[in-house]
Formats: sequence, C-alpha cells, structure tokens
Amino acid sequence: MYCTKKITDDLIWVGANDRRLAMFEGVYSVPGGVSYNSYLLIDEKIVLFDTVDKAVHNRFIENLDAALAGRKPDYLVVHHMEPDHSASVVELVAKYPEMKIVCNEKVLALIKQFNYFDTDSCVCIVAENDTLDTGRHTLHFHMAPMVHWPEVMVSYDSTDKILFSADAFGCFGALNGALFSDEVDFNRDYMDEARRYYANIVGKYGTQVEALLEKLTALDIKTICPLHGFIWRKNLGDILAKYALWSSYTPETDGVMIAYASVYGNTENAAEILACKLRDRGIKTVMFDVSVTPASDIISAAFKWSHIVFASTTYNAGIFVAMEALISDLVEHNIQNRTVAVIENGSWAPVSGELIRGKLSECRDITFLDKALSLLSSLKLEQLEEIDAMADALGETLPQSAKAAPLAQPAAAAPGAKAEEVPAPPAEIDPTTAFKFSYGLFVLTARDGEKDNGCIINTAIQITEKPFRISIAVNKANFTCEMISKTGEFNVSILAESVPFSVFQQFGFQSGRNVDKFDGCGYDTRAANGIMYLPDGTTGVISGKVADAYDYGTHMLFIADVTQAFVLSSEMSVTYQYYFAHIKPKPPAPKEKKAGYVCRICGYVHEGDELPEDFICPLCKHGAEDFEKLQ
Ligand code: FEO
Repeated sequence: MYCTKKITDDLIWVGANDRRLAMFEGVYSVPGGVSYNSYLLIDEKIVLFDTVDKAVHNRFIENLDAALAGRKPDYLVVHHMEPDHSASVVELVAKYPEMKIVCNEKVLALIKQFNYFDTDSCVCIVAENDTLDTGRHTLHFHMAPMVHWPEVMVSYDSTDKILFSADAFGCFGALNGALFSDEVDFNRDYMDEARRYYANIVGKYGTQVEALLEKLTALDIKTICPLHGFIWRKNLGDILAKYALWSSYTPETDGVMIAYASVYGNTENAAEILACKLRDRGIKTVMFDVSVTPASDIISAAFKWSHIVFASTTYNAGIFVAMEALISDLVEHNIQNRTVAVIENGSWAPVSGELIRGKLSECRDITFLDKALSLLSSLKLEQLEEIDAMADALGETLPQSAKAAPLAQPAAAAPGAKAEEVPAPPAEIDPTTAFKFSYGLFVLTARDGEKDNGCIINTAIQITEKPFRISIAVNKANFTCEMISKTGEFNVSILAESVPFSVFQQFGFQSGRNVDKFDGCGYDTRAANGIMYLPDGTTGVISGKVADAYDYGTHMLFIADVTQAFVLSSEMSVTYQYYFAHIKPKPPAPKEKKAGYVCRICGYVHEGDELPEDFICPLCKHGAEDFEKLQ
C-alpha cells in the first residue's frame, strides 16, 4: 500500500524509509534508520525529483504510481547520481520511455558509468542558471560540485520558492510519520544527527558548501527539500546558521572534547582526571572512548567542540589502532581551526603523542598546546600538577563566557561558626537586566476611518481577570499609537513560534505613515471591532477598548477592557528569546575570501595563490589545465 505525503497542493513526497539498514554507505551506523526522499511535482508537465536506494525501490514505485494516478512523468531531474538516490532510474526509463532525464554533463557521465541504457534519446542537459518551465512552475538549476559528489546540482522552484537541495541540509534518521522539521523538536532530537550527517558526508568539502551557501543567498527560499531527512518550511535560519558554522569549521561550543584510547584503563584514568579538573574550572567537557564509540559520532563532535584532547596509549610502537584510525578519519574530513592537547602513554617507549601531533599537523589552523603529558604506564601523584597545568592552559585559550562559575565544594560548618556572608549585589542599574524579562511578541493593530495599520510590540499583559483588563505600552513614534490614542480601540495578535521573519519586516521595519502594511497580505480578517488581526502565525487575538491612557514620555501606556478574545492555535506563543534564537536571521560571519583554484571536472578546490603547472587533481587526476581561479 502506498504511503505518500503532500508538501504543497502540487508537490508530493514519494520517498521511502529504511529502518533495517545497519551501516549507511557501509560505514555509518544509522540506529534511527534513514529516509530516501523523492518528490513529484504535478504541473502541466510532471516532474520527478530523484529516486531512491534499491532497498526501498518497491515501496517507492508503489508511492510514485499512487501519486501519478495513471499519469506519466515528463521529466526526471537527477540531482545526484549516488546510487542511494538513483537506483530506480533504469526501471523508470524502461517504464516511461518518453520521459526526459534532466541532468548536467557530470551526472550524465555517471549515468553511463553506473547504468547501461541508451541515454542519447532521453537526456536533457542543463548547466548553471538554466531553467525549465513546467507550466505554473519554473525550475532553475545551480551546480553544487562536491556537495557531496562532483556532479551534484540543486534546483530552485521560483514559483513556490522551494529548493531541492540534494544532499545539502539532509539528516540521518527515518521519517516517523512527520515530514517537516517543525513537526518534531529538531534542535533537541535531530540536530546531532544532522551534524553527524554533515560532518561525515560533506564535512571534507567546506569550501564547496560555502560556495553553495553563497549562491543560495541570492534566492528567496521558503522551503528546503533535501534527499535525506526532514523538509524545512519553518525556521530555515536554524539549519542555515549551522551550515555556515560547519562549512567554515567554526566550533559551535566552547569547551573540551576528550577522545581517549586505553588498553588497561590507565590512559582513561588520566583523561578522566583531566575532565574533572576542567569541570572544576567551569569548562564544559565531553568524553569518548574511541574503542567503543563509532568514529562518525566522534567526528561529528569534533565539528562541534572548540578544543580537543587526544589521549592515547602507544601500541606496536605507534598510535593505538582505534585512535590512529580516528585521527586519519579526522584529517581526511578536513578538520581545522581547533585547539588540541595530547596525552600519551606507554610502558617502555611512549611515542603516541608525537605521532598524533605529526598526523594532525596536516590540518589547517590547529593550535597545539605546549602542555603535553607523557605517562609511563599510569599517572603518578607528582604528575597531577601537569594535569592541572594542562587544564589551566586549555582554560586560558577559552573565552571567559565558556567558563561557568564552578560549584563551591560544600564545607562542613564548624560548631558555632558564622554563616559565610553573601556579597551585596552591585548598587548601580544594569540595563541589560531588562533582557531577563520573558517578553512575548505581538502585532498591535488599529483602524482609523479606512486606514488599517499595525506595529510590533513586546509589552502586552493581563492586569485583572474580573473585569478582564490588559495593558499595552507603545512607542509614541509609532503611527499605531497615534491611531489608538484617537480611536481608543485595538487588537493584539499574539504571535506563535512559527511566525515567519517576514511578519517582523512587514510590521516592524516600515512606517504606516508611508506605506499600507496590509497591502498584498492576502487576507482581510477582522475582529468584531472591525480592526484587522493576523490569521496565521498567531496563537490568539485580544481586542481592547482603552479605559485609561498614561503618557510616559517616549511611550503611552494603555489600560484596556477586553471586548473580544479568541484562540487560533495550540502552538507555543513566541518569546523574545525564541525570536532571537530561531527567527531573526543571524548576520553572516564576515568571510575572508579564499584564494585558490577549482577543478572544472570534479570541483576539488586547491587553496593558495599559485597552482603549480604540474599539479594533478587528487580526486579526478586531471591536470592544472582543468583548473580555474576561484572567483
Ligand atoms: Fe545520499 Fe551523497 O547521497
């Protein structure tokens, strides 16, 4: 039986989930399964975006047949030829001989490598900025080499502002009934898996991901449809902000990740003591035993934490096997911009520390702490000072904000002793204390004659229950304040967490004196007082009739009787803090323009001012003549 889900009126998810797969790509454990997303656009011309892995081919075909309902696809867009998204291409070509495959030259080359069928009659080649009109929709194609393979491209539906992003913005984990990231607590339950997916699948190609992000800034994207994981239709800033950090190898968390390899527990013991000393200094820590934690989890954590301590025993005159594999993996995933300290152990010739430093010196922007620690079989009492010194050195390279005040050790009070005096709080006024109020956010609307207007406020509270009275404070410079002073009536639309940033732009970034803020809004929803309210992104509406007004210089304080109140949704109302964390776009970090050359064949980037004439691409083995300067 088919299992499809509607995304918009004419876009249907026809993918499938696999919860039996043990190792994705044969390397990455996926305890939560994985989804293979495929999308069907029903327009005058019908477009299928990618297919699925062979493991879920039958379910996909059932889904596709149901969504097609007897019609035939006109186009199959192949964004990425990795077989987990292209296993069904051959069967679809045989089933729909008139269907055109839309792809780029590199995709075509891989189609020929993976599959043996006549491509000449059915392939339609696209390049950067090419478009495809399907009726109501227009698709725009953009190349995204090495995100994750050289042939990858994305497409953008400029009609509904949907980005089909291939591997970008994907996530491990099957879709358990929910299709959209806002149907789950993504930040709490899935962000770690999104990071693990990113770091392990495309983490190596930060420069290429940055190039894609740069292209996307020119597009007005409302929805992102990746090939794995959830679709993003709300809070896109959450995942875009993470990609900006991950692709630039910027740590997300100031603190220390300790990865240790220990045969008989003595290296682990030193690592454990270091972790305790760091916590005593208020520094966040996380620990991994590299012999038991899958490498993909540790690589993901390395992309998150600012400081890394590697603690390893010496083994066969080298680095302990599991640690050696992890370090090689990290180097291959291009880890950079981290502060690193090393603890080595060995019973007769400890050398693992020097070897670890040597391997990591291949990475860019790694700062090694001078304070290293060398153990002979086990940590000795007299070496505790060295652990303290390492903890201090790590602490010195962390910002003050990364250090919580360490908890005071409770001391037994001597009989008759006086309680310790609590220092008096500072006497002066710290204005930032006001940010600790748990403000909400509201659209305040008014109507004067035929003129509708509204503004954003953060001060609306209930004062009394009987009678039901509220207060609002409004800046006197706002036109809405002037209108309420004149008419004595208003509505408060209580904003929900799903409210898009555009509402704040609409009501907060322009004046009703100059523009009609409701122009083109597509709704005309009015309460009994005839004043507009917001039907979407709103949890409830309260209408007020002014009972008292007080002039407080910059602001008017209105006390109002509630004349109407109704709930619109069961969503959480937005708070000021939530707005800053999830809705307001973060300014992009200023970027240093990288000098380098990009391979026209596979997208590999060689960083540096010069490209040697005899340079050979390490990925596709093409020569310097196939490279061009990064723009
Ligand atoms: Fe899920 Fe790079 O493919």
